[in-house]
Amino acid sequence: MPDTDATPDPIVTATIQRNAPVGFLLARPSYFAVEYEINPYMHLEVQADRAKAITQWETFRDRLAATGAEVIVQEPIAGWPDLVFANNAGFVHGNRGIVSRFRHPEREGEAPHDEATFRALGLEAIVLPDEITAFEGAADAVVFGDKLIVGHGPRSDEKAKHHIADLLGGIEIIDMPLVDERFYHLDLAFLRVSDEIALVSEVATTPEAFAAITSHVPDPIVLDLDDTLAFCANSVVVDRTIFMHVATPRVRAALEQRGYEVVEHDVSEFLKAGGSVGCMSLQLYGH
Ligand code: ARG
Repeated sequence: MPDTDATPDPIVTATIQRNAPVGFLLARPSYFAVEYEINPYMHLEVQADRAKAITQWETFRDRLAATGAEVIVQEPIAGWPDLVFANNAGFVHGNRGIVSRFRHPEREGEAPHDEATFRALGLEAIVLPDEITAFEGAADAVVFGDKLIVGHGPRSDEKAKHHIADLLGGIEIIDMPLVDERFYHLDLAFLRVSDEIALVSEVATTPEAFAAITSHVPDPIVLDLDDTLAFCANSVVVDRTIFMHVATPRVRAALEQRGYEVVEHDVSEFLKAGGSVGCMSLQLYGH
């Protein structure tokens, strides 16, 4: 007889406690691999070393937790190798989590798991209306000051932005159309560092959008092509510490000058799937 009374394995290690200045969701990379090619960085012939990836992920989780941040881990399911990129799970604001809808069928099975994960975290899980064919979560939407910055084109439909803005109480939107496939998510092109500072790529968007964003950000640090290709924007900020795969000398100097410590954390295996530490963490709350 099947053991129907068995308690299912928990999807997350905890519910959100909000006992730290900032909280993150990370997804365990047990099934991480390069199994398809849906962005310019993925090549089936360049496989990730899973054991090495797990070590890189575990040390990242530990270093993040060591800053005092609350770190919750999502348990994975087999068959969805990109689930590790938690910033694509959805967009969390307060007690609500808007569940992503993935552009590529290769990732669509992650969404029901992410929806269940949001519930297990204690969030209200919101599913977008059917007419939104794609929205890839916090990877394509960031609140900066009194505006919502949205990335669209490669992975998110432009019309998703109205739903997100409505859920945030009618916040004004600044568009960041993503015009280069190499920078297919907003989190490869824009990073909020503080209320004043953001990293903004000049090459990932249109000149008009770049002008609108840099006039909204009081102290923008402009990323050139090299900085953007190095995934400098795909970083994680905890107070005055910024975790980054590799900092270009220019970006490091600009951040240090403003009182930030840049901590390089090697995630070489995850870059083979087109993501760095920013993609690997979903901010649940905080500064
Ligand atoms: N292989 C994944 C994809 O192409 C990488 C996702 C990167 N995530 C991110 N937040 N930028 O969908």
